Amino acid sequence: MLSTTKNWKVSVAAPGQAARITKAALISATMIATPDPQIGMHLGLYSSRRSFLTTPCTRLKDFFPPKDTNLIQTTPPAWPHQGFTMEEMLAVKPAHRKPRTFGDWVAWKTVRFARYWMDKATGMDRDQQIDKRNPTVAVDAKKPLTEAQWLVRFVFLESIAGVPGMVGGMLRHLGSLRRMKRDNGWIETLLEESYNERMHLLTFIKMCEPGWFMKIMIIGAQGIFFNGMFLMYFINPKIVHRFVAYLEEEAVHTYTRSIKEIEDGHLPRWTDPKFSIPDIAVQYWNIPEGQRTMKDLLLYIRADEAGHRGINHTFGNLNQEEDPNPFVSKFKDHKRAPRPSLRAEGFERDEVV
Ligand SMILES: [Fe+2]
Ligand SMILES: [Fe+2]
Repeated sequence: MLSTTKNWKVSVAAPGQAARITKAALISATMIATPDPQIGMHLGLYSSRRSFLTTPCTRLKDFFPPKDTNLIQTTPPAWPHQGFTMEEMLAVKPAHRKPRTFGDWVAWKTVRFARYWMDKATGMDRDQQIDKRNPTVAVDAKKPLTEAQWLVRFVFLESIAGVPGMVGGMLRHLGSLRRMKRDNGWIETLLEESYNERMHLLTFIKMCEPGWFMKIMIIGAQGIFFNGMFLMYFINPKIVHRFVAYLEEEAVHTYTRSIKEIEDGHLPRWTDPKFSIPDIAVQYWNIPEGQRTMKDLLLYIRADEAGHRGINHTFGNLNQEEDPNPFVSKFKDHKRAPRPSLRAEGFERDEVV
């Protein structure tokens, strides 16, 4: 049975902020801004104990209630998570790979530009900013963000992050069909990345209710971002992988900072003992009993992002046409396949191919 333990509503939508969010959403994806000061946004935060596959409580709106059918008992994640140890998750650190080529520089600057507008979108004031000289590493700020500000960032970041893997996987799939050649393991990793990002998004959506404005913003950003990624992946997939890797540096940074603010006691709603993480997350990551706090959830998600960071920096170093995907390959002399999550700068080509 589903039982509700608490209901929180937090309004984060001042008209001025809505304008900033509009601007940020579209610019982040496309460098185009269309602010509308009349638009507002509302986020609802709540915690609930709910079964993944039971009828939702009518007191809370469930945005994607499981379909109750006569025959199906449960639909587990089709792409099971490989799991992490606590040690692995705690070892993840925010980091930055310095751009080495012009393409790297373009990818890095594009992400920096998007981050600038994302900070504006979440209404970050000056005291909430971190040291701008080390934007993906520094995590200390004079003033914390609120839970609602974090959720806006998480939802928007994840709705964008799920796009490039699907585009890359799709284009490589079509390329393989067209050229009648093997892909050597890239497609599955890219599709799995987008699946994983979607699970991040669905998890956060279980915790907050994006308003109609946020939904429109995401649809707009997705339409533009998808097409941009599609074109760029055709023209230069290396730059796209580098861009994604830099985006993942931002994601690792975002989750590291939010974890720190939980540890520092700045986010009381998420440390309240009555707060429980969504069942969809417990099921997907197979999170053990006693490790189901918001901080634990963010540790899992951050470890995923660290994996994407290492994989995409590595993919950006490889020959896109010929090199096999080392992360799913079997190596000679019983050498183990590389683990990307703790290799923030990725692997050089001669280390893994
Ligand atoms: Fe993510
Ligand atoms: Fe990611």
